[in-house]
Amino acid sequence: MKITVAGAGNVGLITAVCLADAGHHVTCVDTQKEKILLLKKGHSPFFEPGLEPLLEKTLSNGHLRFTTDQKLAYSDADIIFIAVGAPAKKDGSVDLSYIYAVSYSIADSIEKDVIVCTKSTVPVGTNGKIKQIFHYRKPRHLKVEVVSNPEFLREGSAIMDFYLGDRIILGVDNPETASIMEQLYLPLKIPIIVTDIRSAEMIKYASNAFLATKISFINEIANLCEKVGANIDEVAFGIGKDKRIGESFLQAGIGYGGSCFPKDTKALVQLAGNIKHPFELLESVIKVNQHQHSLLVAKAKELIGSLKGKRAALLGLAFKPETDDIREAASITIIKELLEEGANVTAYDPIAIPNTHKLIGNAIDYTTDIRQALKDADFAIIATEWGQIKHLPLDTFAAYMKEPIVLDGRNCYSMKEIQRYPITYVSIGRPVVSKGRVSSMSLK
Ligand code: UGA
Repeated sequence: MKITVAGAGNVGLITAVCLADAGHHVTCVDTQKEKILLLKKGHSPFFEPGLEPLLEKTLSNGHLRFTTDQKLAYSDADIIFIAVGAPAKKDGSVDLSYIYAVSYSIADSIEKDVIVCTKSTVPVGTNGKIKQIFHYRKPRHLKVEVVSNPEFLREGSAIMDFYLGDRIILGVDNPETASIMEQLYLPLKIPIIVTDIRSAEMIKYASNAFLATKISFINEIANLCEKVGANIDEVAFGIGKDKRIGESFLQAGIGYGGSCFPKDTKALVQLAGNIKHPFELLESVIKVNQHQHSLLVAKAKELIGSLKGKRAALLGLAFKPETDDIREAASITIIKELLEEGANVTAYDPIAIPNTHKLIGNAIDYTTDIRQALKDADFAIIATEWGQIKHLPLDTFAAYMKEPIVLDGRNCYSMKEIQRYPITYVSIGRPVVSKGRVSSMSLK
């Protein structure tokens, strides 16, 4: 099948490369010239493990090509995936202008019948509006079928998720279109669920909202654990063993970030509000998450007093490991709060420094060497559970820092291990460890 993917961002590029690797002929189109030039040379504009080797492979075997020419990309495609950005507006609602612009461009370019399949996360009803665009704009003799096919790729493991996903959701209007889409995905041997378009759109939002709820729930339990002297590791393990609850997404910490959960939870709250059905549960999930982002600076102040003039080592900038993405990362809130408190910040991250520098500039120092960040620091905050941080020999803290005070927002170290070192260690939902001693008292 001839496939076109509109948009070479995290979703579009992974979809294009993986479908090309599965043997299809794929054209990936994007309006950003520099991005397409980079991709033609086999370089990805963002970091994703395993992406560049697949990119090089599919470019050199001729299964994948890149272009900025929309007419060329859309005119003779059998299936067109829309995977362009749908960013959040200031009020939390979704900016659909790129989605609609692509739809108009497709309608103006096609020369044969085509299936248009939306991968971008769009509010319920958007695919209905896309159908309207085709109805009024496309050549009359051509047929356009619209499909909702939300993606469930996680940054950092997107390629694995493409091949080993739990399910593929197809929101379609008729069985013929469903059958063509099923054939496309059949080689992946992933369960396919065919449903109506509106339900498919809602499945995506409900999935992300549920996962975000699970995170805020475990974070609230962690906050309670601190007050009552329980340990969140034990509690999460104990509840996760119940199959109805499940073990995944019970890692307590300083909250979720990234380009998806924050945006999608706000969009669902907005959508519910628009139809006068306030989604109070999800509003609380968002509130809890904002609170978690600010937890560690508050704890640092409680422990140290004024942070003015203190040297802070911030370990980890990316919103999670294996990505250079800092969108809505807890680290950004932490940086802003530390600067407001008058602290001097040196941040460590293996790959997210260029993106952070674009946002924060020279207000803080950056290093790709953890020891350099820790050198002479009055306290350290861990914001991302990078392997480099998790596997750091624990005597490094006392060896390099002025005061070995570590506030760990991702519970990187086991309580047993940390007690062997002369560190003051504050984590999430676990007792404070002070120079080898576990204190039954939590911070406030
Ligand atoms: C998320 C979903 O997991 C994907 O299924 C979905 O396709 C994607 O959004 C999207 O809508 O495009 P992603 O944001 O890449 O993927 O990353 P996750 O692994 O889900 O992590 C999101 C955030 O939750 C991270 O900040 C992570 O640190 C945090 N998290 C995750 C926790 O705090 N605790 C956990 O137990 C799990």
